This record gives sequence, C-alpha cells and structure tokens, in this order.
Amino acid sequence: MAGPDGGDTLTAGAGPLDVEVVRKDFPLLGRLVHDRPIVYLDSASTSLQPRSVLGAMERYYETTHANVHRGVFATAEESTRLYEEARASVGRFIGSKDPTREVIFTKNTTESLNLIAHSWGRSNLGEGDIVVLSEMEHHANIVPWLILAEERGIELRYIPVGPDGRLELDDLDARVSGAKLVSVSAMSNVLGTINPLRLIAEMAHRAGALIAVDGAQSVPHLPTDVGALGIDFLAFSAHKMLGPTGIGVLWARSALLDEMPPFLGGGGMILDVKLDRFLAAESPHRFEAGTPPIAEAVGLSAAVEYLGAVGMDRIRAHELALTGYALDTLAERLGTDCRVFGPPAGEDRGGVLSLAFRDVHAHDLAQVLDQFAVCVRPGHHCAKPLMRKLGVSATARASFGLYNDEHDVDVLIEGLIEAGRLFG
Ligand code: ALA
Repeated sequence: MAGPDGGDTLTAGAGPLDVEVVRKDFPLLGRLVHDRPIVYLDSASTSLQPRSVLGAMERYYETTHANVHRGVFATAEESTRLYEEARASVGRFIGSKDPTREVIFTKNTTESLNLIAHSWGRSNLGEGDIVVLSEMEHHANIVPWLILAEERGIELRYIPVGPDGRLELDDLDARVSGAKLVSVSAMSNVLGTINPLRLIAEMAHRAGALIAVDGAQSVPHLPTDVGALGIDFLAFSAHKMLGPTGIGVLWARSALLDEMPPFLGGGGMILDVKLDRFLAAESPHRFEAGTPPIAEAVGLSAAVEYLGAVGMDRIRAHELALTGYALDTLAERLGTDCRVFGPPAGEDRGGVLSLAFRDVHAHDLAQVLDQFAVCVRPGHHCAKPLMRKLGVSATARASFGLYNDEHDVDVLIEGLIEAGRLFG
C-alpha cells in the first residue's frame, strides 16, 4: 500500500514485520559504502528516514512554507494548521489526553530535559531538595541536575546499576523517600535495559515525588502510553524515530505546565510585553520562544504516521527477535571473545548492543567495521558515569531499527571476526 506521498511501500499490516518491504521505504539503505551495501546499525544515535517523511518536508517547503501563529495569509494559516496538527499527532502517538496543551516542541531530548530542570526545577527546588537519577543516565539527564546542584544546593541520589545491567530497585523506597523528583531513562542507550517505569512511577508518587522520563531510546521502539505509565514528564527526539533532526518533544501533565515559568524568552511565548514586565502565554506556546521547527514538525508528524501504520507492537516484536538472534549468534560465533553489556534478550531488553571484543579498542573495531560498510558508534555514548561503572572507557555500539535484519547481524559478525584477525 502506498504511503501518504505515494512513496512508501508499506503502511499497515498484521503479523510479523516484512523487513524486505520496510527496507524499500528507506532510500539511504540503497547506498553503497566502500562498494558494499550499507549496514546501518546506529539507530540509537539517529535513525534513517522513510520517503514519506522526506516527501512531507519537501512538499511543505515547496507548497506551504510560512511562519506559524503570525501571518493571516493563506499559506501562513496552512503552515500553522500543519504545525498544530503535528502536535496533535505526536500527542496521540504517546497517549496524551490533551496534546494542544501538553505537547511542547523543543530542539531535542536534551533541550526537553533542560526545560524540566530549568523551568520546573528552578521554581520548585531549593537547598537540600532531593532529585533521584540513575547511574545509567545519558549526560542530558545528569548535567542539567548537576548545574542545579551547583547553583542551589539540591541533593542528587542515584539508583545503582547492578551487574546484570538492570537498575537495583530493592531499596528504591528508601532512595526516593523525601525526593521531589525522580528522573530516569526508559531505556538505556548503552545497555538496552528497559526500565520498569510503572513501578518506579508508583514508588515516586507514593513518596510524593514527580517522575520525569528520558524516552529518547524507548519512544522510537516501544509502544508508549503516558497515561498507562503514570508518569509526569516525557522527553524524546524526532530524529531517533524516523523523523528529522532539530525537533524534540516534551510532554508533561498540563497542570504542571500551567505552573511552570518560561524557559526561553522571545517572540511567540508572550501575551503582552511592556518595558518593565511581560505576561507569558499559556502552554505550549509559553515554552516555544522564537520561530519553531515547522518543517521538522511536519516531518515528525509523517514519521509518527509511518510508525503508527507499521504498528509499534510489530516493531517491538521484530526488534526483540532480532536482538535475541544477535545475542545468540554473537555468543555462538565469538564466544567469550565478545562481551555484550546489558541484560540477556527478553522483555526488558531493547536492540542496543554495546560490545567489547577481546582487547581491541572500540574505535579500532568501528574502523574495521566501516570497511564492511557497518555503521556502529564507538565511544562513551554520553554516559561516562555508566562507562566507569562498567569498567571501560568505550564500547562499540550496534543498535537496531525496524529496517534491520539478520543479514545485518551476520555482516557485523563478519567484521568482528576480521578485526580479531587484524588485531590478533
Ligand atoms: N544520545 C545519542 C546516542 O546515544 C546520540 O548515541
């Protein structure tokens, strides 16, 4: 079935995902690198885009482009409508009950998390107030809180990561006791661990704390329902979920947003400005100063439409099976030469494989893999505290999207075997 712009071959269906069909929707997968077909295994960093997303953005620029919430001419009204429709689609995708108030467009997950810290944090946290994070957080969910710790003396507590790569939640009750906020990732960008958010949310709320969630790695790969999860804030990025770079989302309960001061000041976020004061607009506009990412919102809307048509349950089932295949095959073919961090394949494991291969440095591994056209990310993955805990300075990380298949895993392993041969 054709996609919204007639370009995509797959929209709806039931049963297992037909990856061959999906792959045809992603033009970049047709690329050769070093004369070999590209094997894209870096979706945790950024995903590829289907034709419907690329087409929607191109069509927007070719036929509609105008600023939003300003002009009254026809294309300006249309642009505003597309931008607000994107907000509604994204809201529906994560189960928001009131997207017109609860969905804020930001630049990326990092900006969304900073918005929570700088707006909610600055108006609710003072000396000695407790924020609970976890040891598996991305720097984007540590540094904003460290800034507040330096600035106003808040206390940070960390939920430890156990040897199996899961959060140690046995004494969570004690850890969250007296806290004002718990802020954790839904899925680790290093370990692939999927955290039990509902349980953490319940415990946070029982202790009188709010819960914020870094959904950068989970929203693109798992069905998400903010109501069912019982969370208060959710941050994620478009570019990891088949959309463009330059746009992220902060979802929050509207009662919270109504009480939060602006994060950035400028055009579009006010009701009135005088020389000595201003009156802020209501959410979401209060938090969207300046010209927003309009074409990017149109692209994100097309991405959400694509994901929804394929079905998040099918995407999850496909990635779960592929992760199982990868972990089994890596163990079979490479044995103890290859260490994969994180929990075993299962319901609480996403498609992120951080690898250590013998004592070959992650950057060397990535370079050898590049010769096989295999794209992986070497480094600390913006999670230095977790890397220290794992006792490594870097890993080579392969991460899956809905367009990956067993052949991609086989080429990855071929590349690792060659690295073993080269580095001894
Ligand atoms: N946060 C992204 C990653 O984990 C960039 O690679």
